[in-house]
Amino acid sequence: MSIEKKLEQLEKNHLAAELGGGQDRIDKQHAAGRKTARERLNDLLDPGSFVELDKFVTHRATDFDMDKQKVMGDGVVTGYGKIDGRQIFVFAQDFTVFGGSLSRANADKIVKVMDLAIRMGSPIIGLNDSGGARIQEGVESLGGYADIFYRNVMSSGVVPQISAILGPCAGGAVYSPAITDFILMVKDSSYMFVTGPDVIKTVTHEEVTKDELGGALTHNSKSGVAHFLADDDEQAMIMLRELISFLPSNNMEDPPIKPCSDSITREDEKLQGLVPEDPNKPYDMKEIITTVVDEHNFFEVMPYYAENIICGFGRLGGRSVGIVANQPAMLAGVLDINASVKAARFVRFCDAFNIPLITFVDVPGFLPGTVQEFGGIIRQGAKLLYAFAEATVPKITLITRKAYGGAYDVMSSKHIGADVNYAYPTAEIAVMGPEGAVNIIYKNKLNPEERAKAVDDYKTTFASPYKAASLGYIDEIIYPRQTRQKLIQALEMSQNKNKPNPPRKHGNIPL
Ligand code: HXC
Repeated sequence: MSIEKKLEQLEKNHLAAELGGGQDRIDKQHAAGRKTARERLNDLLDPGSFVELDKFVTHRATDFDMDKQKVMGDGVVTGYGKIDGRQIFVFAQDFTVFGGSLSRANADKIVKVMDLAIRMGSPIIGLNDSGGARIQEGVESLGGYADIFYRNVMSSGVVPQISAILGPCAGGAVYSPAITDFILMVKDSSYMFVTGPDVIKTVTHEEVTKDELGGALTHNSKSGVAHFLADDDEQAMIMLRELISFLPSNNMEDPPIKPCSDSITREDEKLQGLVPEDPNKPYDMKEIITTVVDEHNFFEVMPYYAENIICGFGRLGGRSVGIVANQPAMLAGVLDINASVKAARFVRFCDAFNIPLITFVDVPGFLPGTVQEFGGIIRQGAKLLYAFAEATVPKITLITRKAYGGAYDVMSSKHIGADVNYAYPTAEIAVMGPEGAVNIIYKNKLNPEERAKAVDDYKTTFASPYKAASLGYIDEIIYPRQTRQKLIQALEMSQNKNKPNPPRKHGNIPL
C-alpha cells in the first residue's frame, strides 16, 4: 500500500472512531439534552490540549455475535489534556457505543489513564454516562470494574479524583464515583442507584421514579452522595474547571497560588455589626465568608445538604483554603449526624491535599434527640473530631459567637491542634448557654429575680471570649472588620508548618 493510501486509511479510522456509535445515536443523545463524550471533553479541557489514547481499541468479545459489532474506541474516550495549563487525565464514557457499557477492553483503557494519573501525579476526571457492565461480556466486565475500584482506592489521597455523572450510573458501577473525592451531577439527566425502581418495587413494594430515587437533586440534598449540582453539561464542565483551580495536582504539591488583586489588608465595616446582639437571632455565616475571601469568591461544596454546616473552597491572599463553618441561619448551626459526616470528609480531603483549613465557629452544641442518638451521633460526631485532630495542614479558627460544650472542642479548637485561634468580642465560650447552665446549677431554688441575676452573672463570667483568652485557648480577640487581614496573617505565619503525626499504618477513624 502506498504511503498516501496508508495516510488515507489512518484518516478514515480517525473519522470512524470519532463518530462513535453513529450519527443517529449522536442525534438521540442531543435530543435527550446531553452532549457526546467528545463534546464534553472539548468543553472541559483547554482548547487544543486533548491528547487521545487507545482511540482504535476494540472489544474482544465473540458471544452474542459481538465479533460482528465492533466500534473503534469501544465506548470510552480516554487521554490527557490541560485545565488552565495544568495536566489532567480524563475518561469520558460514550453512550452512543453500546450505551457506554463497560467491556474488558473499555475497562483496560480507563485503567491505563488511572495508572498514568497516579504515576505522573496529576488529577483524574471521569465523565460517567453508561448502562453499566457490558452484559455480553459477563464476568470480564465485573473484573474490569473491580480493577477500576482498586485503583480508585490506591489513588485516594494521592491525586484528586473527580466524577461527573452525566447520564445513567447504576448497579455496582456507582462505587467508583463513590470512592472518588467529588461527585457532580446534572439536573434532569443523570441518576445513580444501586438497584433501580423496578427491583425496588419487586422487593419492597415501594413505587418511586428514577429521578426521585437517584436523580441529581436527590443525591445533592437527601443522600449526601453528590457534592455539586449543574443545570446542564456545559455548566458541569465549567464547575469542574473551577474546582480543579483550587486543588494541587497531587499530595506532594501545594495548591496553585493565584495572583491576587484583592488587598490583603482590606477591612470591612459591615462585619463589625454582623453578629446580632441577641444570641438567639440567626445570621448568615456565608456573608462573613464571602466578605473575607479573595474577590468574594466562595466555591461551596454540598450546598444543598446538611446546610447547618458550610464547606467549600476560597482563596486568601491568592492561596487556596478549605473553609468549614457552622451556619447559624440553619438549625442554629447545630452539629448533627449529616453535618458531622459532611464536614469530616471535607476536612480529610483538604488535609490529604495540603489545603489549609479555616474554621468559622458559631455552634450551640450537638443536636439532642432519639433520632440522633439511635443514628449514632456519638460515632458520627467523632468523625469530625477525628478529622480535625488528625489534620496536619495549617488550621486557623475564628469563633464568631457560640462555642458550647463538646462542639467547642470539636470545631478545630486549640486543644486538638489548631495553630491560631481567634474570637470576635461577641464570642461565648462555655459548657452551655446561660439559661441551661443556671437551670442545672440552681435547679428550682431561685425566684425569678434571683434567676435573672444568676443568668446575668453567668453571661458576664462565661459567655464571653475573655475566660478562654486568659487561658491562652484563644490567641487573639479581633475586631471583626479586620477578619480578612487576620486570617491572612495567620496563614502566612503557618505556611511552612511541619507537624507530622506519629508513624502508623493508618488510624482507625470511627466509620
Ligand atoms: C450492553 C447496553 C447496556 C449494557 C445499554 N446498552 N446498556 N449494551 N450492556 N449494560 C445498549 C442498548 O442495548 C442500546 O443499544 C444502547 O446501549 C442504548 O440503550 P437504550 O436502552 O436504547 O437507551 P435508554 O432507553 O436511554 O436506556 C438506558 C438504560 C438501559 C437505562 C441504561 O439501556 C438499561 O437499562 N441498560 C441496562 C442497564 C443494566 O442493567 N446494566 C447492568 C447493571 S449491573 P442499541 O444498539 O439499541 O443502540 C452492573 C454491574 C456492575 O452494571 C457491577 C460492578 C461491580
